[in-house]
Amino acid sequence: MRLTVIGCGYVGLVTGACLAAAGHEVFCTDIDKKRIDLLNSGKVPIYEEHLDEVLKRATAQKKISFTDDAGEAIRAGEVIFICVGTPPKETGEADLSAIDHVARQIAREARTPKLVIEKSTVPALTGVQLQKALAAYSRGGAVKFAVASNPEFLREGTAVEDFFHPDRIVVGVESEKGAAVMREIYEPILDRKFHCPVHGGNCPKDPNAELLITTISSAELIKHASNSFLALKISYANVISDLCERIGGDVEEVTRAMGLDPRIGTQFLKAGLGFGGFCFPKDIQAFIHLAGTIGVEFDMLKAAERVNKQRIDRFFEKIHKALWVVKGKKIAVLGLAFKANTDDIRFAPALEVVRKLQEEGAEVHASDPQAIGRTREIFPHVCYHEDPYKALEGADAALICTEWKIFRTLDWEKGGRSMARRLVLDGRNLYDPKKMQQMGFEYHSFGRA
Ligand code: UDX
Repeated sequence: MRLTVIGCGYVGLVTGACLAAAGHEVFCTDIDKKRIDLLNSGKVPIYEEHLDEVLKRATAQKKISFTDDAGEAIRAGEVIFICVGTPPKETGEADLSAIDHVARQIAREARTPKLVIEKSTVPALTGVQLQKALAAYSRGGAVKFAVASNPEFLREGTAVEDFFHPDRIVVGVESEKGAAVMREIYEPILDRKFHCPVHGGNCPKDPNAELLITTISSAELIKHASNSFLALKISYANVISDLCERIGGDVEEVTRAMGLDPRIGTQFLKAGLGFGGFCFPKDIQAFIHLAGTIGVEFDMLKAAERVNKQRIDRFFEKIHKALWVVKGKKIAVLGLAFKANTDDIRFAPALEVVRKLQEEGAEVHASDPQAIGRTREIFPHVCYHEDPYKALEGADAALICTEWKIFRTLDWEKGGRSMARRLVLDGRNLYDPKKMQQMGFEYHSFGRA
């Protein structure tokens, strides 16, 4: 099928590349000419495992192309995926101006009927507005548009794997015809007719994903409801962590035992510095805002947001208790990205830690396998080290902020020898407290005595 992707950000690139690799012809466009030029020169503007390989393969097979001529791209596809950003406004409401802009562009530029798909994360009832805008700006209604919603559940760091091996594919449509088109688009994924860059053809035999066909409003709700529930689960684990600290329990054992109950599940119960990234914080806010506009008080989500914000304060209570005075201390910060395997620092808890350390007059030495470049733009006065051991040299304390494997497997015997004081404050509960103490470390983490 001939597909158009508008917006070559994270979601657009992964969606476009994977659908091209699955055999569709994909025409990508973005208002950022520099980004299009970069992509046409074979470079990928984001760090995401396997994405460059998928793009290379699709480009070599002439299945994907990039243009800054939106009209040309719009006319080329039978189906249009809207993948533009929906950042939060001050109020927490999702800013839908880019969606509106693209809707008017599609209505002006299209010459033949199109199925227009919401791929960006949008609040429920956006589909209704999209239909209205397309009809209002289509030159005298000459061209007919159908609308669908197809939320993505890609996680940064594993997005290509998540696209080819989804738990479910959710599509919200107005008609059986819309459902048939969506089925045809995802058939290669559902029937596993694609070259998998992650498993090199030896894909795990897990059951095929379900294609869940529903209404547009339900599909829109499913995205916010799913992300908000995952965030809620993390905040719940963090409150349990606070309880464990005061009662003398071990949050790792408590959450593991909880998770062994399949009704609860082991995932997303990891206590620590809390959630960040460009999804959970903004999706919670947008969901709370949406609920508020229709008279539903989403107190439990407000509480989850509050608990998440408190993580930084909890961490600094531990830092102050251990270090006494922060001013003039040399502090190693291991991890800047909002989670492992990404260079993304948006709403990363680590940035809040760095900001507060600088505010309190500490000398910050930071290390991260991928996110130093982006962080340096925000915090030019931090000392950055590709090599984490360099960051530890002469440090009065080491703070663990991101669960990168390189930090999980760090040689603390070696690291500790170069530190001014063997003090580790672990914001991601990466280490075994006993082992760290046996190596002579003062070790503090979340929810563990
Ligand atoms: C999330 C959703 O998982 C994905 O389905 C959706 O499409 C986009 O949003 P992502 O933002 O990439 O994906 O990150 P995710 O892996 O979900 O982690 C989110 C945050 O929660 C990270 O900061 C992570 O460190 C934190 N987290 C995750 C915890 O603190 N505890 C956990 O148990 C799991």
